[in-house]
Amino acid sequence: MTLDRAYSRDLSERYDRHHFGGRSGQFILRRDCGTLDALLPPAPGRILDIPCGTGVYTEHLAGRGYDVTAADASQPMLDITGQRQTGATPKLCSIFDLPFDDGAFDATITLRLFSHFDRGEIGRALAELRRVIRPGGRVIFDSFRWTPRRWPLLRRFVAQSYIYEIAPAEVETLIREAGLRKVETATRYLFSPIWQRKLPYPALRALAAVEKRLPDRWLLRTFWACTRDD
Ligand SMILES: C[S@@+](CC[C@H](N)C(=O)[O-])C[C@H]1O[C@@H](n2cnc3c(N)ncnc32)[C@H](O)[C@@H]1O
Repeated sequence: MTLDRAYSRDLSERYDRHHFGGRSGQFILRRDCGTLDALLPPAPGRILDIPCGTGVYTEHLAGRGYDVTAADASQPMLDITGQRQTGATPKLCSIFDLPFDDGAFDATITLRLFSHFDRGEIGRALAELRRVIRPGGRVIFDSFRWTPRRWPLLRRFVAQSYIYEIAPAEVETLIREAGLRKVETATRYLFSPIWQRKLPYPALRALAAVEKRLPDRWLLRTFWACTRDD
């Protein structure tokens, strides 16, 4: 199993505050959940949330009536997910080697992972996700067109592994090569959600309203929904 990028206990315990802390962080989480709702097939259904991280999306999806399996390569992350009342089955595993049968899920969601992977790893992960959805099911994931965490000065202060950027055209190629077909996309965020979280809530609301008027190519995060036809 490739578990080398599994989050440590320290990183896991700081994760929710860092990404979803405060009123602005909760607003970002609600935006993400709304985007997922629009891309997922209607409940009920079996969903694999990998990597589940602290389980924020697992909790949302379980609340919507899905039967969720929460998987991650980090036991500390799974411990935090397990503290939520989701009824989800937690599973320690790598996205490259999923311990699930072919076609076991109606959909998979993979958020904030592929920015830790190079092109070859994204391709391998997509092929494995394709294997575990049923024909007609959905593989949902996000990609980042750019991130300030690549800037040399900022990288000195961010205690995380290497962050990759990827252009949407390259993602489309990887989707095709994995035997998937793009069904729908949604683009969000003029700049990184981690930085947007630091904005005062009214300013963040105003920015989100402005973003809706901007062309997709200006926004940095794309949510992808793909399917397999056979
Ligand atoms: C940035 S967090 C994203 C968590 C959650 N999806 C979210 O958006 O809040 C990245 C997660 O990927 C997990 N991870 C890293 N390598 C992995 C792998 N090969 N398979 C499964 N999970 C992995 C880490 O342990 C961590 O929990």
